[in-house]
Amino acid sequence: MENIITIDGPSGVGKGTVSLKIAKYLGWHILDSGALYRILALVAKRNQVSIDDETKLVALATELDVKFISLADLSKLQIIYAGHDIATEIRDETYGKIASQIAVNPEVRTALLARQRAFYTLPGLVADGRDMGTVVFPKAKYKFFLTASCEERALRRYKQLINIGIYVKLSELAVEIANRDQRDTTRTTAPLIAASDAFTIDTTKLSIEEVVECIVSKMVF
Ligand code: DC
Repeated sequence: MENIITIDGPSGVGKGTVSLKIAKYLGWHILDSGALYRILALVAKRNQVSIDDETKLVALATELDVKFISLADLSKLQIIYAGHDIATEIRDETYGKIASQIAVNPEVRTALLARQRAFYTLPGLVADGRDMGTVVFPKAKYKFFLTASCEERALRRYKQLINIGIYVKLSELAVEIANRDQRDTTRTTAPLIAASDAFTIDTTKLSIEEVVECIVSKMVF
């Protein structure tokens, strides 16, 4: 079993924040796999590549010139694409939606697989996404699947976006999240699903700290 912790779950559940805290606690590296799909969405949009153009999307995914830099205290992740930090820009729901649409394509997913696995270096990796425990890192040491009610997730994402200066309507965000849930859970390849050996945590009524504590309490090293 590799020194990998996978944290999967639907949009807005808080995977990113929890993963950063766990990575900080363990001193491990971090993979925000959703960011890769979002960057691909941004690059496709900038290059006017259609979400149906598999050949071009696969080429873009293979060449993606992107670097993740976590600040020393792991409070924030910088995502450098073509020399610019695009970490805030890709949080816009426009890219969340396109990411979810292009993520249904098995060839695109395959093109991103090796890149995601390459994030694993010692001392270990905390990987968050939809298929980390099922497809990308099936031999991970610990697997977690976070859930929360749709209302709570929409609210969490709303607060997160407002915090970084992206203004949205809560009601519209809730619809976007529900649409993404539907697409991510029903696609044929690597759908959003808990791995059979994952711990599922319903975080609806838990604070970030409580979720982190719950995860840490399950780990024995
Ligand atoms: O986690 P996120 O909201 O940043 O992810 C954006 C979209 O990318 C998500 O709706 C589906 C896709 N995605 C995926 O298919 N597999 C992953 N491991 C991560 C994200």
